[in-house]
Amino acid sequence: MRLASLTLEQFRSYLGLTMRFGDADLHVLQGPNAAGKTNILEALSILSSGRSVLGASEDDLMTWGHDHYRIRAQAISDDAKEQSLEIVSQRQPRRARVGFLNDVRLPIGRLTGALPAVIFLPQDLELFTGSPSRRRDLLNDLLVQVSSEFSASLSAYQKVLKQRNALLRRIREGTGRQQDLSIWEEGLAREGAAITLGHLELLQVLQCTLAEELQALGESWRSVQLVYDRHGSATTAEWIAAELMNDLVHFRERDLAVGSTTIGPHRHDWHIEADGRSIASFASRGQQRTAVLALLFLQVSFMEVRRGERPLILLDDVFSELDTMHQDRLMQSLKGHQVLLTTTHVPDRLADAVLWTVGDGEAVKSTVTV
Ligand SMILES: Nc1ncnc2c1ncn2[C@@H]1O[C@H](COP(=O)(O)OP(=O)(O)OP(=O)(O)O)[C@@H](O)[C@H]1O
Ligand SMILES: [Mg+2]
Repeated sequence: MRLASLTLEQFRSYLGLTMRFGDADLHVLQGPNAAGKTNILEALSILSSGRSVLGASEDDLMTWGHDHYRIRAQAISDDAKEQSLEIVSQRQPRRARVGFLNDVRLPIGRLTGALPAVIFLPQDLELFTGSPSRRRDLLNDLLVQVSSEFSASLSAYQKVLKQRNALLRRIREGTGRQQDLSIWEEGLAREGAAITLGHLELLQVLQCTLAEELQALGESWRSVQLVYDRHGSATTAEWIAAELMNDLVHFRERDLAVGSTTIGPHRHDWHIEADGRSIASFASRGQQRTAVLALLFLQVSFMEVRRGERPLILLDDVFSELDTMHQDRLMQSLKGHQVLLTTTHVPDRLADAVLWTVGDGEAVKSTVTV
């Protein structure tokens, strides 16, 4: 998949922006801090996975003082089919968020995956020591792009979770009834099982070539394992749902005390174990970066295999953080993909790139390649 153009309307710092990408593979978006570089990648993350990769609220995404935003892209698939994708979100006259694929209106959940993309954020350099929410999001963002069933389960789960949490708080305040909890728990167990199973299967697939990728990056641990951290051990949808239902009932007192649901895939986590130890606990900064990079390559090939389409690669501010070996390996591995890379200073190792100067609500394509 390649982006032919991107148009933003009242999105973050852009009142109106159009970028036409042409045939080049590598696009370097250069500008000082707060110029609006990440905003462009964030807009693309919304088109590809239906949500802001930074977890921003709809109100924060609309340009301050405005009541809607629009993100539109023209994309060309690997077999040369053109398609347009659009998401419009408004808060006036009522809140609404709709998607368009080739100008046909459809729910956002049906649009996700139409623009396959893999994004690499600066905080991903600390993926294994950072917050579990980014690790969970990484799995979810991949899965929503390859499975509409997973996407439907995830949004249903999130809705039911909100309802159960609201009820827990009402019970605590004395205005809700404990016996009503089971209404939400059945839904949570069913959708939670689908999500857990999705996570387990994804980690299993990524596991297949993890050692190989690490080795290619010069890391020769004897054994490497992707481990899913959860309460429970069932491996079929039916049994995971039964386990989850049991846990939800079992931990009701605790959930009531904290006023939120403390069990389920929204609390699961995962880690890499090398030679029997979590890499977060012993690996050097460089080794962790190697593992993060290996994981990026795994995500890219997963998308390619499952979608039969090369994903767009979005690299936010990470290139200059890597050493020269990792930089070279990154560029080699991503050859043939369209890459959008943001940076404050253009590194001299990037050849054949189209340079964009970002700032003042604009992104201007330079005729000079670096
Ligand atoms: N809703 C909004 N409306 C208008 N402007 C916004 C909105 N949200 C963010 N901004 C502007 O966008 C700027 C941040 O843009 P962005 O994060 O893309 O910068 P960047 O070029 O990636 O910077 P850095 O190099 O520091 O990462 C903020 O400083 C803010 O001024
Ligand atoms: Mg940024």
